[in-house]
Amino acid sequence: MKKLKYMVTAVVSVFLLSAGIHSELRAENKGQVNKGEQIYNTRCMVCHGKKGDGEGPAGVLKKEEAGGRVLEIRPRDFTLGLYRFRTTATGCLPTDEDLTTTIYNGIPRSFMPPLKEMHFDDKVAVMEYIKTFSSRFKDDPPCNPIAIKKPNWVGSEASVNKGKVIYKDMKCWECHGDTGKGDGSKSNEIKDDWGFQILPFNFQTGELKKGSSPENIYMTFTSGLDGTGMPSYEDTLKEDDRWHLVSYTLKLMGKLDKGKKVH
Ligand code: HEC
Ligand code: HEC
Repeated sequence: MKKLKYMVTAVVSVFLLSAGIHSELRAENKGQVNKGEQIYNTRCMVCHGKKGDGEGPAGVLKKEEAGGRVLEIRPRDFTLGLYRFRTTATGCLPTDEDLTTTIYNGIPRSFMPPLKEMHFDDKVAVMEYIKTFSSRFKDDPPCNPIAIKKPNWVGSEASVNKGKVIYKDMKCWECHGDTGKGDGSKSNEIKDDWGFQILPFNFQTGELKKGSSPENIYMTFTSGLDGTGMPSYEDTLKEDDRWHLVSYTLKLMGKLDKGKKVH
């Protein structure tokens, strides 16, 4: 009987202790989210909207593209929990690091400014806050980042030529066009997962949204840009073939021109 009493006391105190730890953790997370909300309201809301639905007062920005087409740039609606710039497999949530990297670098061609001067803790706080806009971060299991190792032949002439053949075989041209100007036969009919028209990348218009290093480009072909129609080739192309496509992408972007080095 005495033994039982001890056991009950022990179980109850372990329970109380863990409840204490949990509420402490929750309080810490709550503090972070509150701080994140303040930062969000001053630095992000203007584009992404009070409710994180992309409906901020800045509205839709427009940019003229090749052939007189107008690219509509919409701040991301966070409520679907769909993210493009990830290091995780297609369908997965981004990692915390993916999100802080986007916040740090900004997004080229989208008017989202880099925030390199912001304190790291503040970036983490605002990241925790934007996660609260979608229940996916509570409901879905996290995914591991995909490992990556760039072969030393990326950017060589032989690799560019192989990439060119893969670009043709995989019908990248249907969306991106034969010469990479984003004007393929399907390019006018692609809609994103929010139902808005989206144009494929024109390889001649500057930097990539995810960043233009060979590793970033490889990751785009591996993870896909979820929600945009740009698929993942993790299952349909071998690793080497995805790297050959990186070489060809760099070539189309003019990054292999004389005097330029692949980093
Ligand atoms: C000037 C407008 C603007 C501001 C300010 C801005 N963003 Fe954005 N943001 C955008 C646009 C536009 C996109 C969509 C880019 C695209 O995919 O074309 C975007 C996309 C994103 C994404 C999605 C990335 C992905 O993987 O899909 C994240 C995360 C993000 N913004 C976070 C933030 C945070 C946090 C702040 C404030 C610290 C912020 N943004 C401030 C315009 C802005
Ligand atoms: C169904 C149409 C479609 C196909 C097929 C397609 N893409 Fe895309 N791709 C897109 C769209 C749409 C975007 C623009 C996404 C955005 O702006 O967020 C894009 C973006 C890109 C980007 C830019 C990523 C960045 O960070 O800005 C590259 C590079 C790219 N595609 C290469 C390819 C290659 C190589 C292939 C073939 C292996 C291919 N795409 C197949 C539709 C497609």
